[in-house]
Parts: sequence; structure tokens; C-alpha cells
Amino acid sequence: MPIPDEFIQELKQRVDIAEVISSYVKLKKQGRNLIGRCPFPDHQDSSPSFSVVRENGYFHCFGCQAGGDVITFIRKMENLDYVEAVRFLAQRAGMTVPEDDTANSMSKLRTRIYEANREAARFYHKMLYTPDGEQALSYLRGRQLSEKTIVHFGLGYSPRSCYELVNHLRKKGFTNAELIQANLAVQRGQGGVRDRFSDRVMFPIIDVRRNVIGFGGRIMSDIKPKYLNTSDTPAFNKSRNLFALNFAKDHAKGQLILVEGYMDVIALHQAGFENAVATLGTALTPEQSKIIKRYAEEVIICYDADQAGQKATARAIPLLRTAGLQVRVLTVPNGKDPDEFIKSYGEQGPGRFRMLLEKSGNDAEYRLQKLREKYNLEITEQRIAFLTDAARLIAGFDNSIEQDIYISQLAGELGVEKAAIRQQVSRIQRINSKEDYKRQQREIQKNLSAVSDNINREKASNLRAANAEEALIAVMMIYPSAADRVFRSLPPERFVTSFNRKVYETIRKRAQEGHDYSLTDISGEFSVEEVSRIAKILASHPRENNPEQAAGDYIRILEEEASRLTPEEIAKADNDMLLQCINKLKEKKK
Ligand code: GTP
Ligand code: MN
Repeated sequence: MPIPDEFIQELKQRVDIAEVISSYVKLKKQGRNLIGRCPFPDHQDSSPSFSVVRENGYFHCFGCQAGGDVITFIRKMENLDYVEAVRFLAQRAGMTVPEDDTANSMSKLRTRIYEANREAARFYHKMLYTPDGEQALSYLRGRQLSEKTIVHFGLGYSPRSCYELVNHLRKKGFTNAELIQANLAVQRGQGGVRDRFSDRVMFPIIDVRRNVIGFGGRIMSDIKPKYLNTSDTPAFNKSRNLFALNFAKDHAKGQLILVEGYMDVIALHQAGFENAVATLGTALTPEQSKIIKRYAEEVIICYDADQAGQKATARAIPLLRTAGLQVRVLTVPNGKDPDEFIKSYGEQGPGRFRMLLEKSGNDAEYRLQKLREKYNLEITEQRIAFLTDAARLIAGFDNSIEQDIYISQLAGELGVEKAAIRQQVSRIQRINSKEDYKRQQREIQKNLSAVSDNINREKASNLRAANAEEALIAVMMIYPSAADRVFRSLPPERFVTSFNRKVYETIRKRAQEGHDYSLTDISGEFSVEEVSRIAKILASHPRENNPEQAAGDYIRILEEEASRLTPEEIAKADNDMLLQCINKLKEKKK
């Protein structure tokens, strides 16, 4: 039973869309609308493009074209599926959602993954204190982690035998499919599975709602890869989470420290800097920057002093600034990472690190300094080149007071008129805003044509058919009562794209054998990425008042598309054939 319409209607009446959205973004009144900067992580909005129409209960962003009602907003903002978003809002409004069983298969799968992960974390932690885990425990102690820290972070050990975790979780009632979905196990030959992590020190990754969403595993020797992380699963998205944010958010006091490694985070927390977080083995993303902004006004980047770390710093700065954060950069001396630095001073470590923190300059100074190092300012040409580069940098600051400070500083340093530098900065700003606009347009184009689709590569060249296929799959999975007729009348060959055809074949076969075919039921036959795609298809499909009729409409589109000739066929066809085709299309239109 999907959630009853009446409930959704009442929910929408009770929650005020403007109030909900205001908790994510500052809205200002403009005429009848409220406007602000687009809060969605995938849109870097430089001007307020986002508008909310309170009376009619919807929002729209003129920049990224996102729009919809309050449920759509929460789905996108909190990365939830439809049912989860309804629950989220219902809780806010003090309402109880009537129980539903079909539409929430994705959220059930996610819950199962959380449960499996939690049990796995317990298992790994216990292993530390068995004879098998002895080496891992002494490794952690060797890295000067206290007993308390090991327990606080729930660190553990994944045993060398490749079956212990699987056996343990199977006994607890988890299926092989669930363990694969959680990426705790991987397929091994026909039907069998084995542990994903073996003989590694385990770092559980916990989100702000205290769910164990994944793991990082460090090898204890020089074998590569040094770290193995959980791949993205329906419960784990590397670009939307940060290591230790679950702890750090309560200690932020407006400021977070961003470091590169798990070990850096742990060493800092142990030393009393409990506001440290790290990305999950990837470069910082715009989404993560926006998440940081929810908990802090200022970030101190404290990456490794090596070249890679400095490069990563340069890339992170604009992302964090765009998210509206103040940025400072802390450079650890002598090529050490924060963990090594603190340890190398023993008892004095924390105090020394505190001093570095207080001394860390803001990012503008940091970047100007880095630029300055590239030039020999004794030589006129190089001075001009430096000035041009510096103007470009200053043009990127959106605070005009800050711009003015650095313009004055440069003018004094290089003996140039302030007005000349200011003029140069303004010119660059004008060019930038034009280029921003062009880039935005290109992004939108790219999204529209779906060129970057790795799961369904045929989609881009068959957009209309592929969309109809996806809609049809969604209708059949969400409203099984509408599916029987489709299964009988529509052969899989009618599907144009092979990924969607595979989904259709899978659910059709299960239906014909009398089995259920919810997302959880079929997830074993698809890869993690593929399951996420199917979930997305389901999550992004609107509710249907008349699913049978909708299914009929989508089938008609597929038939129309099938009778369309490909460009190669048109080139080859003779006149009679073309006429025949055109007539067929005309008839259909009637
Ligand atoms: P230690 O060597 O134990 O001190 O690790 P660290 O935490 O200092 O890590 P390092 O600075 O070498 O790397 C920073 C982060 O990048 C790690 O915490 C991981 O998240 C990630 N990382 C490092 N090596 C690998 C790797 O081989 N594979 C993947 N996927 N991620 C890695
Ligand atoms: Mn390290």
C-alpha cells in the first residue's frame, strides 16, 4: 500500500514550505515570492536564483531548473527517497505516517545495510581483543592511540580468513544479497560470497544520525592499496559525508578543521581538537563544503605539507568559499602531517598544534604568498605578471572590503597606483561573470542530454525511449497491480536500451514465476551502482492516479519510438519503405 493521498494532502497543508526551506537557506521577500541562493549541493549559485512561492507551496530555481513541492525539496536536500522524505516532514509536523509496504523498499534496504554495518563494526571491534587481532591492537597502540580513543572511534580488525564476517552476519539473519549491497562482502564465483575486508585495521564511518554507513580499512604493511574504503552503496555516498562529523559537529563552535587522513582526525581528537573532520579518501566536493557550512562559519584546512596536499588545498579553497565559509590554511612545518606533528612533540604536541592553529593565516594571504613565490619581483616583467595573477585572485573574492585590503597591500608593496590595480580587478570580474554564465549554460545542456550516463550508455542517444522505459519500470514496480497486463503484452525486445531491458526482463521473469519483485527482491541480480540507478528511477517517479493508464501511455511512446528509423536505416531505405514508415507514424498520431 502506498501512502494514502489524503495523508499527503494533509501533510502538505500542515507544513509551511517557506519555513522548511528557511532552515537550509536565508530567504528574502521579493514581491509575492521569497528568494535566496540555491541550497542544492550540486548547484553553485552565485546570484540568488532560487524562489519560493509560499501560497502555492512550491519552489523553483532558475539556475539549475530544480523545482517542486516541499517533499521534492526534502528529497533532494536530504538525499532521501519519497517515503523517507514524507516521514521526515511528518515527524517535523508531529504526524504519524500510516504504514506502507511497497513504496519504501529502498528505505528498507538502507535500514538493513545500517544494521549489517553496525553488527560488522561490533564484530571488527571485538576481533581486536582476540589472538587474531593482537597484531592490529599493537599496531594501533604503536601509533599512540589510547584505549579510550580506540573505543571512542570503535576501531577494529577484519580477520585474515575471508569468511568470518560473512558467517557471523549470516548467523544473524542477513542474506548474501544484503551483505553485497552493504559492500561488506563481494561475490566469489557462482553463488558464493566472501568478506570484502581482510587483515586490515578498520575505521567505521558514522553519519550525523549515528548510522554506521561504511568503513575504511588500513593495511598494516606496505602492500597497496594502503586504504580500502566501502564503495558507494545505497547507504553510503563518499561525496556527501565526512569522517568524524558525528563527533565534530558537537564541538565545532563555528569552526571545523579539515584534514586529509582518518589517522589525522583521530590523533587530533585525542589531542583535544574534537572539531577535526576528513573527506573519505576523495578530494573535497561541493556537497561536502555545503555540509560543513551547516555546522561552521570557518574552516581551517590542514592538509599534508607535500605537493599533493598543497594542490588539494588550492582546490578546496574556492569550493569552501563558494559555500560561504571563511577559510584559513594551516601549514604543518617540516613536511609532517598533523598526526606526525603532534606525536613528534610528545606531551607538548597539543600545545604546539594550538599555536599553529592560532597563527594560521587566512586563505587570501596564503594564496597571495604562494603566487609571490613563483615570481622574481626584482624584474619588471615578472612584477607585472605577478600583479596580473594577483588581480585575478583578488577578483575572485566576493567581499569588496577584503578586495580593498589586498589591493592596498599590493599597491604599497609594488609601488603601483591603487586605482590601476582596482581597474584591472574590475575588468577581470566582468569577464568572469560572463564566463560563469556560459559555464552554467553548458552544465545545464550536459545534464539535459545525459551524456555522462555510465549505467545506461544508450540513454543519451535514445532519450525519449529511455525515459518512457524508466517511467514504465517505475509504474510496474510501484504499482504491481498495473504490471500484469504489461508483462503479458510487452515483449522485452521492445526496450531500446539494454540496461532498462535487463531490469524489465528481471522483474518479468520473477513475476511469471510467482515471486515479488521489489527493489530488495531483485537487488542481488544487479551491481551496487545499478541498484542505485533503479532506486533513483523509482524515487524520481511521480505518484500516478491511474497507473494502468500511465503504463498504456508509456508503452505507446515505446511503440512510436520503435517505428522510428535510425539515421543509418534512413540512409539505406528506399522510397517505398520511407513512405510506409511515415504513414504508420501518421496513423499513430490520430
Ligand atoms: P597513515 O599512513 O595511516 O598515517 O594514513 P593517513 O590517515 O595519514 O593517510 P594519508 O595521508 O596517506 O592519506 C589520506 C587519506 O587518503 C586516507 O585517510 C584515506 O582516506 C585516503 N587514502 C590514502 N591511501 C589510499 C589508498 O590507497 N586508497 C584509497 N581509496 N584511499 C586512500
Ligand atoms: Mn599519516
